[in-house]
Amino acid sequence: MQNQDIKIPVLYHEPIHLLREDSIIYTLRNGEPPRSDIIICGDSLDVLRSLPDNYVQSIITSPPYFNQRDYSHELQIGHERFLTEYISHLRIIFSECKRVLAESGILWLNIGDKYTDGELMGVPWEVALSLKASGWILRSDIIWHKPNAMPSSVKNRPTPDHEYLFMFTKSRDYYYNADAVREPHVTFTDQSKMKGGRSHFGVKDGTPEKGKNQGNSNLHRGRWDQAFHPLGRNKRTVWSIPLSKFRDAHFAVFPESLVETCIKASSKPTDLILDPFCGSGTSLAVARKLSRRFIGIDINSDYCKIAQNRVSSIQVDLLFGEDPFQSA
Ligand SMILES: C[S@@+](CC[C@H](N)C(=O)[O-])C[C@H]1O[C@@H](n2cnc3c(N)ncnc32)[C@H](O)[C@@H]1O
Repeated sequence: MQNQDIKIPVLYHEPIHLLREDSIIYTLRNGEPPRSDIIICGDSLDVLRSLPDNYVQSIITSPPYFNQRDYSHELQIGHERFLTEYISHLRIIFSECKRVLAESGILWLNIGDKYTDGELMGVPWEVALSLKASGWILRSDIIWHKPNAMPSSVKNRPTPDHEYLFMFTKSRDYYYNADAVREPHVTFTDQSKMKGGRSHFGVKDGTPEKGKNQGNSNLHRGRWDQAFHPLGRNKRTVWSIPLSKFRDAHFAVFPESLVETCIKASSKPTDLILDPFCGSGTSLAVARKLSRRFIGIDINSDYCKIAQNRVSSIQVDLLFGEDPFQSA
Protein backbone atom coordinates (compact mmCIF):
# COMPACT_ATOMS: atom_id res chain seq x y z
CA MET A 1 0.00 0.00 0.00
CA GLN A 2 1.12 3.46 -0.85
CA ASN A 3 0.18 6.96 0.27
CA GLN A 4 -0.27 9.52 -2.46
CA ASP A 5 -0.89 13.26 -2.40
CA ILE A 6 -2.23 14.09 -5.83
CA LYS A 7 -4.35 16.86 -7.28
CA ILE A 8 -7.79 15.61 -8.28
CA PRO A 9 -8.68 17.12 -11.68
CA VAL A 10 -11.59 19.48 -12.27
CA LEU A 11 -13.06 19.27 -15.74
CA TYR A 12 -14.90 22.36 -16.99
CA HIS A 13 -17.89 21.02 -18.82
CA GLU A 14 -18.41 23.05 -21.93
CA PRO A 15 -21.20 22.80 -24.49
CA ILE A 16 -20.64 19.68 -26.57
CA HIS A 17 -19.55 21.50 -29.75
CA LEU A 18 -16.75 23.28 -27.87
CA LEU A 19 -15.24 20.17 -26.35
CA ARG A 20 -11.59 19.50 -26.78
CA GLU A 21 -10.72 16.11 -28.20
CA ASP A 22 -8.93 14.98 -25.07
CA SER A 23 -11.78 15.78 -22.70
CA ILE A 24 -13.54 13.19 -20.62
CA ILE A 25 -16.80 13.78 -22.46
CA TYR A 26 -15.18 13.09 -25.78
CA THR A 27 -13.86 9.84 -24.33
CA LEU A 28 -17.32 8.91 -23.12
CA ARG A 29 -18.91 9.60 -26.46
CA ASN A 30 -16.43 7.26 -28.05
CA GLY A 31 -17.60 4.47 -25.80
CA GLU A 32 -14.52 4.13 -23.64
CA PRO A 33 -14.81 4.02 -19.88
CA PRO A 34 -14.32 7.46 -18.36
CA ARG A 35 -11.61 8.12 -15.85
CA SER A 36 -12.99 8.43 -12.36
CA ASP A 37 -11.95 10.46 -9.32
CA ILE A 38 -12.93 13.61 -11.10
CA ILE A 39 -14.90 16.76 -10.41
CA ILE A 40 -16.86 18.02 -13.39
CA CYS A 41 -17.82 21.66 -13.25
CA GLY A 42 -21.10 22.03 -15.13
CA ASP A 43 -24.87 21.65 -15.06
CA SER A 44 -25.85 18.28 -13.57
CA LEU A 45 -28.35 17.35 -16.21
CA ASP A 46 -26.00 18.22 -19.02
CA VAL A 47 -23.13 16.23 -17.51
CA LEU A 48 -25.29 13.27 -16.50
CA ARG A 49 -26.49 12.93 -20.09
CA SER A 50 -22.90 12.28 -21.14
CA LEU A 51 -22.36 9.40 -18.69
CA PRO A 52 -22.96 5.76 -19.69
CA ASP A 53 -25.89 3.58 -18.56
CA ASN A 54 -25.59 1.48 -15.37
CA TYR A 55 -22.30 3.10 -14.59
CA VAL A 56 -22.09 4.09 -10.90
CA GLN A 57 -22.78 1.85 -7.91
CA SER A 58 -24.12 4.50 -5.56
CA ILE A 59 -25.39 8.08 -5.73
CA ILE A 60 -25.31 10.27 -2.63
CA THR A 61 -26.51 13.82 -2.99
CA SER A 62 -28.22 16.85 -1.57
CA PRO A 63 -29.62 19.12 -4.29
CA PRO A 64 -30.21 22.81 -3.48
CA TYR A 65 -33.31 23.16 -1.31
CA PHE A 66 -36.30 25.01 -2.74
CA ASN A 67 -35.91 28.82 -2.59
CA GLN A 68 -33.28 28.85 0.13
CA ARG A 69 -29.81 29.73 -1.09
CA ASP A 70 -28.24 31.48 -4.03
CA TYR A 71 -25.48 29.42 -5.64
CA SER A 72 -24.64 32.22 -8.09
CA HIS A 73 -25.41 30.57 -11.40
CA GLU A 74 -28.23 31.16 -13.87
CA LEU A 75 -28.78 27.41 -14.33
CA GLN A 76 -28.87 26.64 -10.62
CA ILE A 77 -31.61 24.41 -9.23
CA GLY A 78 -33.77 25.77 -6.38
CA HIS A 79 -34.60 29.21 -7.75
CA GLU A 80 -37.75 28.16 -9.62
CA ARG A 81 -40.83 30.32 -9.01
CA PHE A 82 -43.08 27.40 -8.14
CA LEU A 83 -42.56 24.21 -6.19
CA THR A 84 -44.04 22.20 -9.08
CA GLU A 85 -41.34 23.54 -11.38
CA TYR A 86 -38.58 22.67 -8.87
CA ILE A 87 -39.96 19.16 -8.50
CA SER A 88 -40.19 18.63 -12.22
CA HIS A 89 -36.55 19.74 -12.66
CA LEU A 90 -35.44 17.28 -9.99
CA ARG A 91 -37.54 14.54 -11.53
CA ILE A 92 -35.80 14.99 -14.88
CA ILE A 93 -32.33 15.07 -13.27
CA PHE A 94 -33.04 11.97 -11.18
CA SER A 95 -34.39 10.08 -14.20
CA GLU A 96 -30.98 10.63 -15.73
CA CYS A 97 -29.37 9.49 -12.46
CA LYS A 98 -31.48 6.33 -12.66
CA ARG A 99 -30.12 5.53 -16.10
CA VAL A 100 -26.54 6.08 -14.90
CA LEU A 101 -27.00 4.00 -11.71
CA ALA A 102 -26.16 0.28 -11.77
CA GLU A 103 -29.13 -2.12 -11.60
CA SER A 104 -27.92 -3.12 -8.12
CA GLY A 105 -27.29 0.49 -7.05
CA ILE A 106 -28.79 2.81 -4.44
CA LEU A 107 -29.64 6.52 -4.55
CA TRP A 108 -29.43 8.37 -1.21
CA LEU A 109 -31.26 11.68 -1.48
CA ASN A 110 -31.25 14.39 1.19
CA ILE A 111 -33.82 17.16 0.77
CA GLY A 112 -34.73 19.95 3.19
CA ASP A 113 -38.14 21.46 3.84
CA LYS A 114 -39.37 25.05 3.92
CA TYR A 115 -42.03 27.19 5.59
CA THR A 116 -44.02 29.70 3.53
CA ASP A 117 -46.62 31.94 5.18
CA GLY A 118 -46.25 29.97 8.39
CA GLU A 119 -47.02 26.67 6.67
CA LEU A 120 -44.66 23.73 6.14
CA MET A 121 -44.49 22.95 2.41
CA GLY A 122 -43.64 19.24 2.76
CA VAL A 123 -41.01 19.51 0.00
CA PRO A 124 -39.10 16.28 0.83
CA TRP A 125 -42.21 14.11 0.54
CA GLU A 126 -43.46 15.94 -2.56
CA VAL A 127 -40.11 15.16 -4.22
CA ALA A 128 -40.01 11.57 -2.92
CA LEU A 129 -43.52 10.78 -4.14
CA SER A 130 -42.79 12.33 -7.51
CA LEU A 131 -39.65 10.15 -7.90
CA LYS A 132 -41.66 7.12 -6.82
CA ALA A 133 -44.25 7.92 -9.49
CA SER A 134 -41.45 8.14 -12.05
CA GLY A 135 -40.33 4.55 -11.36
CA TRP A 136 -37.89 4.75 -8.46
CA ILE A 137 -38.48 2.27 -5.63
CA LEU A 138 -38.57 4.02 -2.27
CA ARG A 139 -36.90 1.61 0.16
CA SER A 140 -36.52 3.76 3.25
CA ASP A 141 -37.15 7.22 4.68
CA ILE A 142 -34.40 8.06 7.14
CA ILE A 143 -34.64 10.83 9.68
CA TRP A 144 -31.37 12.70 10.01
CA HIS A 145 -31.63 14.07 13.56
CA LYS A 146 -29.34 17.06 14.13
CA PRO A 147 -28.51 17.31 17.84
CA ASN A 148 -26.75 20.68 17.28
CA ALA A 149 -29.44 22.21 15.03
CA MET A 150 -29.71 26.01 15.11
CA PRO A 151 -32.02 27.28 17.87
CA SER A 152 -35.00 29.26 16.58
CA SER A 153 -37.26 31.95 17.99
CA VAL A 154 -40.52 30.15 17.15
CA LYS A 155 -42.91 29.80 20.05
CA ASN A 156 -46.02 28.35 18.43
CA ARG A 157 -44.53 25.08 17.11
CA PRO A 158 -41.55 22.80 17.83
CA THR A 159 -38.13 23.84 16.55
CA PRO A 160 -37.13 21.62 13.61
CA ASP A 161 -34.04 19.50 14.24
CA HIS A 162 -34.30 16.87 11.52
CA GLU A 163 -34.17 16.38 7.76
CA TYR A 164 -35.08 13.49 5.50
CA LEU A 165 -32.73 11.17 3.69
CA PHE A 166 -34.48 8.90 1.19
CA MET A 167 -33.10 5.59 0.04
CA PHE A 168 -34.21 4.72 -3.51
CA THR A 169 -33.38 1.78 -5.73
CA LYS A 170 -33.88 0.95 -9.37
CA SER A 171 -34.68 -2.70 -8.82
CA ARG A 172 -35.84 -4.95 -5.98
CA ASP A 173 -32.59 -6.87 -6.11
CA TYR A 174 -29.88 -4.43 -5.04
CA TYR A 175 -26.61 -4.43 -3.10
CA TYR A 176 -27.01 -3.52 0.58
CA ASN A 177 -24.32 -4.45 3.10
CA ALA A 178 -26.24 -4.53 6.38
CA ASP A 179 -23.19 -5.84 8.28
CA ALA A 180 -21.10 -2.80 7.33
CA VAL A 181 -23.47 -0.43 9.13
CA ARG A 182 -24.76 -2.34 12.13
CA GLU A 183 -25.22 -0.42 15.37
CA PRO A 184 -24.74 -1.53 18.98
CA HIS A 185 -27.49 -3.54 20.65
CA VAL A 186 -29.04 -1.22 23.19
CA THR A 187 -29.83 -4.17 25.43
CA PHE A 188 -26.14 -4.97 25.90
CA THR A 189 -25.10 -1.57 27.24
CA ASP A 190 -24.28 -0.98 30.90
CA GLN A 191 -27.68 0.64 31.30
CA SER A 192 -29.38 -2.44 29.88
CA LYS A 193 -32.35 -3.89 31.70
CA MET A 194 -31.80 -7.18 29.86
CA LYS A 195 -30.49 -9.98 32.04
CA GLY A 196 -28.99 -13.13 30.61
CA GLY A 197 -27.77 -11.40 27.40
CA ARG A 198 -25.02 -13.08 25.47
CA SER A 199 -25.06 -16.30 27.46
CA HIS A 200 -28.03 -17.31 25.32
CA PHE A 201 -26.10 -17.29 22.06
CA GLY A 202 -26.22 -20.65 20.31
CA VAL A 203 -28.11 -22.34 23.13
CA LYS A 204 -30.95 -24.51 21.89
CA ASP A 205 -34.17 -23.34 23.46
CA GLY A 206 -32.17 -20.45 24.85
CA THR A 207 -34.74 -17.96 25.98
CA PRO A 208 -34.35 -14.76 27.93
CA GLU A 209 -35.98 -15.61 31.21
CA LYS A 210 -35.56 -12.16 32.73
CA GLY A 211 -35.65 -8.53 31.64
CA LYS A 212 -37.83 -6.77 29.12
CA ASN A 213 -37.64 -9.56 26.53
CA GLN A 214 -38.72 -12.21 29.03
CA GLY A 215 -40.99 -14.72 27.35
CA ASN A 216 -40.64 -13.10 23.92
CA SER A 217 -41.53 -15.98 21.61
CA ASN A 218 -39.41 -14.51 18.79
CA LEU A 219 -36.38 -15.28 20.91
CA HIS A 220 -37.15 -18.96 21.59
CA ARG A 221 -35.48 -21.95 19.95
CA GLY A 222 -32.27 -20.38 18.73
CA ARG A 223 -33.92 -17.34 17.15
CA TRP A 224 -32.18 -15.43 19.91
CA ASP A 225 -29.03 -15.50 17.76
CA GLN A 226 -30.85 -13.98 14.81
CA ALA A 227 -32.44 -11.26 16.86
CA PHE A 228 -29.13 -10.36 18.49
CA HIS A 229 -26.60 -10.53 15.68
CA PRO A 230 -23.03 -10.65 17.07
CA LEU A 231 -21.99 -7.64 14.94
CA GLY A 232 -24.80 -5.48 16.32
CA ARG A 233 -28.39 -4.76 15.46
CA ASN A 234 -29.56 -3.78 12.01
CA LYS A 235 -29.21 -0.06 11.24
CA ARG A 236 -32.26 1.94 12.33
CA THR A 237 -34.00 4.73 10.43
CA VAL A 238 -33.23 7.58 12.83
CA TRP A 239 -29.60 8.73 12.52
CA SER A 240 -28.47 11.27 15.09
CA ILE A 241 -25.56 13.15 13.50
CA PRO A 242 -24.33 16.67 14.34
CA LEU A 243 -24.04 19.26 11.58
CA SER A 244 -20.69 19.41 9.84
CA LYS A 245 -17.87 21.62 11.08
CA PHE A 246 -16.54 22.02 7.52
CA ARG A 247 -17.69 25.52 6.56
CA ASP A 248 -15.22 26.57 3.82
CA ALA A 249 -17.37 29.28 2.14
CA HIS A 250 -20.16 26.79 1.58
CA PHE A 251 -23.52 26.30 3.21
CA ALA A 252 -25.48 23.10 3.74
CA VAL A 253 -22.48 20.81 3.96
CA PHE A 254 -23.15 17.10 4.58
CA PRO A 255 -21.66 15.63 7.78
CA GLU A 256 -19.04 13.05 6.81
CA SER A 257 -20.48 10.33 9.03
CA LEU A 258 -23.87 10.57 7.31
CA VAL A 259 -22.24 9.94 3.95
CA GLU A 260 -19.99 7.25 5.42
CA THR A 261 -22.99 5.12 6.40
CA CYS A 262 -24.51 5.48 2.92
CA ILE A 263 -21.29 4.57 1.13
CA LYS A 264 -20.47 1.60 3.36
CA ALA A 265 -23.99 0.19 3.02
CA SER A 266 -24.25 0.60 -0.74
CA SER A 267 -20.81 -0.08 -2.22
CA LYS A 268 -17.53 -1.99 -2.02
CA PRO A 269 -13.97 -0.65 -2.24
CA THR A 270 -13.11 0.51 -5.81
CA ASP A 271 -16.82 1.01 -6.68
CA LEU A 272 -17.78 4.29 -8.31
CA ILE A 273 -19.76 6.86 -6.27
CA LEU A 274 -21.53 9.83 -7.88
CA ASP A 275 -22.63 13.12 -6.34
CA PRO A 276 -24.37 15.26 -9.00
CA PHE A 277 -24.54 18.30 -6.62
CA CYS A 278 -21.21 17.82 -4.87
CA GLY A 279 -20.72 21.33 -3.37
CA SER A 280 -17.73 21.28 -1.06
CA GLY A 281 -17.11 17.63 -1.94
CA THR A 282 -18.12 15.78 1.23
CA SER A 283 -19.32 12.66 -0.60
CA LEU A 284 -16.18 12.64 -2.71
CA ALA A 285 -13.90 13.04 0.31
CA VAL A 286 -15.59 10.19 2.16
CA ALA A 287 -15.56 8.01 -0.96
CA ARG A 288 -11.82 8.56 -1.26
CA LYS A 289 -11.22 7.81 2.43
CA LEU A 290 -13.14 4.55 2.00
CA SER A 291 -11.14 3.58 -1.13
CA ARG A 292 -14.06 4.10 -3.49
CA ARG A 293 -13.79 6.00 -6.79
CA PHE A 294 -15.90 9.09 -7.38
CA ILE A 295 -17.39 11.51 -9.88
CA GLY A 296 -18.56 14.87 -8.51
CA ILE A 297 -20.56 17.46 -10.45
CA ASP A 298 -21.23 21.06 -9.43
CA ILE A 299 -22.21 24.14 -11.38
CA ASN A 300 -20.30 26.62 -9.23
CA SER A 301 -16.60 26.77 -10.07
CA ASP A 302 -15.66 28.14 -6.62
CA TYR A 303 -17.20 25.08 -4.98
CA CYS A 304 -15.48 22.81 -7.50
CA LYS A 305 -12.15 24.29 -6.40
CA ILE A 306 -13.00 23.91 -2.71
CA ALA A 307 -13.93 20.28 -3.36
CA GLN A 308 -10.77 19.77 -5.41
CA ASN A 309 -8.53 21.08 -2.60
CA ARG A 310 -10.39 19.12 0.02
CA VAL A 311 -10.28 15.82 -1.81
CA SER A 312 -6.76 16.21 -3.13
CA SER A 313 -5.39 16.63 0.40
CA ILE A 314 -6.68 13.21 1.48
CA GLN A 315 -3.94 10.66 1.82
CA VAL A 316 -5.27 7.39 0.54
CA ASP A 317 -4.19 3.81 0.78
CA LEU A 318 -4.32 2.58 -2.76
CA LEU A 319 -5.94 -0.78 -2.53
CA PHE A 320 -6.43 -1.02 -6.23
CA GLY A 321 -3.07 -0.40 -7.82
CA GLU A 322 -1.86 2.59 -9.72
CA ASP A 323 -3.80 5.84 -9.43
CA PRO A 324 -4.91 6.95 -12.90
CA PHE A 325 -3.96 10.56 -12.18
CA GLN A 326 -0.44 9.75 -11.17
CA SER A 327 0.44 8.99 -14.74
CA ALA A 328 -2.11 11.34 -16.43
C1 LIG B 1 -26.87 21.69 -0.89
S1 LIG B 1 -25.46 22.02 -1.86
C2 LIG B 1 -24.57 20.49 -1.75
C3 LIG B 1 -23.67 20.45 -0.57
C4 LIG B 1 -22.84 19.20 -0.49
N1 LIG B 1 -23.63 18.03 -0.11
C5 LIG B 1 -21.67 19.37 0.50
O1 LIG B 1 -21.49 18.53 1.39
O2 LIG B 1 -20.94 20.36 0.40
C6 LIG B 1 -26.08 22.00 -3.49
C7 LIG B 1 -25.06 22.25 -4.58
O3 LIG B 1 -25.71 22.14 -5.85
C8 LIG B 1 -25.04 23.00 -6.76
N2 LIG B 1 -25.93 23.24 -7.91
C9 LIG B 1 -27.01 24.03 -8.02
N3 LIG B 1 -27.59 23.93 -9.24
C10 LIG B 1 -26.85 23.02 -9.94
C11 LIG B 1 -26.93 22.49 -11.25
N4 LIG B 1 -27.89 22.84 -12.12
N5 LIG B 1 -25.99 21.58 -11.64
C12 LIG B 1 -24.98 21.21 -10.78
N6 LIG B 1 -24.85 21.69 -9.54
C13 LIG B 1 -25.78 22.59 -9.10
C14 LIG B 1 -24.73 24.24 -5.93
O4 LIG B 1 -23.66 24.99 -6.49
C15 LIG B 1 -24.41 23.62 -4.56
O5 LIG B 1 -23.02 23.48 -4.39
